[in-house]
Amino acid sequence: MQDTATLAGLNFELSEEQLAARDAARDFAQNVLKPGVIDRDREQRFPAEEIKQLGELGFLGMMVDPKYGGGGMDTISYVLVMEELSKVDASASVVVSVNNSLVCYGLENYGTEEQKQKYLVPLAKGEKIGAFCLSEPEAGSDATSQRTTAIDMGDHYLLNGTKNWITNGGTASTYLVIAQTDAAKGHKGINCLIVEKGMPGFVVGAKEDKLGIRGSDTHTLMFQDVKVPKENRIGEDGFGFTFAMKTLSGGRIGIASQALGIASGAYELALAYSKERKAFGKAISEHQAIAFKLADMATEIEAARLLCLKAAWLKDQHLNYDQASAMAKVFASEVAMKTTVEAVQIHGGYGFVKEYHVERLMRDAKITQIYEGTSEVQRIVISRGVLKG
Ligand code: CAA
Repeated sequence: MQDTATLAGLNFELSEEQLAARDAARDFAQNVLKPGVIDRDREQRFPAEEIKQLGELGFLGMMVDPKYGGGGMDTISYVLVMEELSKVDASASVVVSVNNSLVCYGLENYGTEEQKQKYLVPLAKGEKIGAFCLSEPEAGSDATSQRTTAIDMGDHYLLNGTKNWITNGGTASTYLVIAQTDAAKGHKGINCLIVEKGMPGFVVGAKEDKLGIRGSDTHTLMFQDVKVPKENRIGEDGFGFTFAMKTLSGGRIGIASQALGIASGAYELALAYSKERKAFGKAISEHQAIAFKLADMATEIEAARLLCLKAAWLKDQHLNYDQASAMAKVFASEVAMKTTVEAVQIHGGYGFVKEYHVERLMRDAKITQIYEGTSEVQRIVISRGVLKG
């Protein structure tokens, strides 16, 4: 782990560009996302129009080089934007996270120039949406055990298998699919292929009916003898697992920031409510039982924010951030779960009904402990780093 004090000089000041990105996201979240968020959650409706607008504002490819149609912003800005969007609508913010840090990042850093022109540019401009397809019915955490196969047929791969719980599964146009080419080589026999919607044999299956992030579009995907051209492989033969790990390291900063936003959104609602609601002759915030809950929430959220920003800063400095992003994700997602439960508690009976938002935030928080590596997987990554010294 890098020593922040030495490397950053502990400068916590945000630049004008970073503040402008945060303020634009805050404005969008409060004015555009908030009005329909309860209905979209209830109806499991993808925020299609809202995502289109986020694309037009440049948020879907915000870290991509402007020469590929992106916003050219840094990872610190990304954390700030993810927090603001997630305070209000985690179903929308996961689209921003997956598109930016799994799909665009992967293509920009490891794709060929042709792949970038063909696939990255429309994704970065928000004209198309991407999906990252690693999880399978029997391979989630144990990601090297891929059952999906990509058999080398000379000028193309023949792709067969099933992917589960794929975010943007129905709405995406471009899919990064991880598959096993040579099982004898273990993780060195895995490739990542760019698959387009509409390729013969590629079927979008059932949409999941979920506990949280119900506005996001999560599907099973089936591939049956899909012919994927050789030029759609990312990197050298056998690079797919390393590609997935490197890409997920940055993805975890996105999900950590999503968890941070869910927590801070719930905290802000609980704080405001506690000042209004009276019990035993005074605002409930003046009762120590509630004031101490708010104190713990504020402290833990601040710690989560610092971990997210540190991981982002390391990435922006091109230093190793594998452990830092795992720490940010495991901590922020646990803070999100704890904070949202307390926010419901502070709201009492009102917290249990949809109108007050906190019950949705509590349901949304849970997935941040599961996707892009469960809390248990993050602890594997962290402990391996710790033990290596
Ligand atoms: N960067 C580069 N290489 C890496 C790496 C990294 N961050 N992490 C591991 N590797 C390399 C290792 O060095 C090793 O290579 P060598 O053998 O050449 O040294 C190889 O990858 C295998 O690594 P491990 O031996 O550590 O593999 P493992 O089987 O023990 O698994 C794991 C490690 C951390 C548990 C990994 O499997 C993992 O991260 N699993 C979770 C996967 C995950 O996050 N799934 C979420 C699905 S995606 C999603 O949710 C998207 C969405 O839609 C929201």
